Amino acid sequence: MKKMNKALLCVFAITLLAVSAIGCTAKPTPSESPAAEATPEATAEAGEVTPEATQEQTDKSTLVVGTSADYPPYEFHIMKDGKDMIVGFDMDIAQAIADDMGVELEIKDMNFDGLLMALSEGQVDMVVAGMNPSDERKESADFSIMYYYSNHTAVLPEGTEGDFTELSDLDGMKVGVQKGSLQEQIVTENVKAKEIIALGKVTDLVLALQSGTVDAIFLEKPVAESYCKSSTGMKVSKIEFTPDDSGTAIAVQKGNTDLLDKINATLAKLIEEGKVDEFVAAANILAENSAE
Ligand code: ARG
Repeated sequence: MKKMNKALLCVFAITLLAVSAIGCTAKPTPSESPAAEATPEATAEAGEVTPEATQEQTDKSTLVVGTSADYPPYEFHIMKDGKDMIVGFDMDIAQAIADDMGVELEIKDMNFDGLLMALSEGQVDMVVAGMNPSDERKESADFSIMYYYSNHTAVLPEGTEGDFTELSDLDGMKVGVQKGSLQEQIVTENVKAKEIIALGKVTDLVLALQSGTVDAIFLEKPVAESYCKSSTGMKVSKIEFTPDDSGTAIAVQKGNTDLLDKINATLAKLIEEGKVDEFVAAANILAENSAE
């Protein structure tokens, strides 16, 4: 543990040095997006991706959320009036938190397995990415109350899905999972796979299944259902796996109780008012309608 902390500190120090060396004029990538104006009716479209984003440094008027926008209905890209936007129920929640704090929301899209590092390095203020607060993750971040629960399943080429009812039915297969995810851990621990192929983005997993590079992909069920509605040639199997830590929470830097308290207050209010369910339903419709 001690060693680990030292290593983390080192990485942190080196990053700080690197950041001060290049100054704060580094150009953002197009996927690092400021949120669009928050209007009550535009909550589902809070994350317009504009290439001219210049807000590199976090200031008190901006809340920066890190996510991996490959995860409908949680967070995903849509094209709206020719603009690339990041939407989804996680982003509606993030927007509500920013609104309650009276600040602008900025969304940074990255690979899921880089999110907690970005958080500990201070590149983002919070991670809202359908993340389960596992004990291992709790060593490097603090987590909010749970705001959503789901279980897991496999997606297979259409016509074959009927043969799959339990996790062990995936034994001997090439199984695709998202790198650094709970699904990777579940498959590693419970399936005697021929090969586990871990990719950074779920969108690439879907392509891998469609092209036959993998035989099955293992996903969170709402995500599996959403992709199967919007993509052809694949179907959700009857496999249902519910791990112990199946709840979803928001991560902040260790010790950032100030922000965590604000996040928890907004979450409790949204859950109480049934808003989270509303956001989920709206995001599912948006994902379905935005499919080509
Ligand atoms: N729930 C899983 C986990 O916490 C996967 C989440 C992946 N999220 C995403 N936005 N791709 O590991």
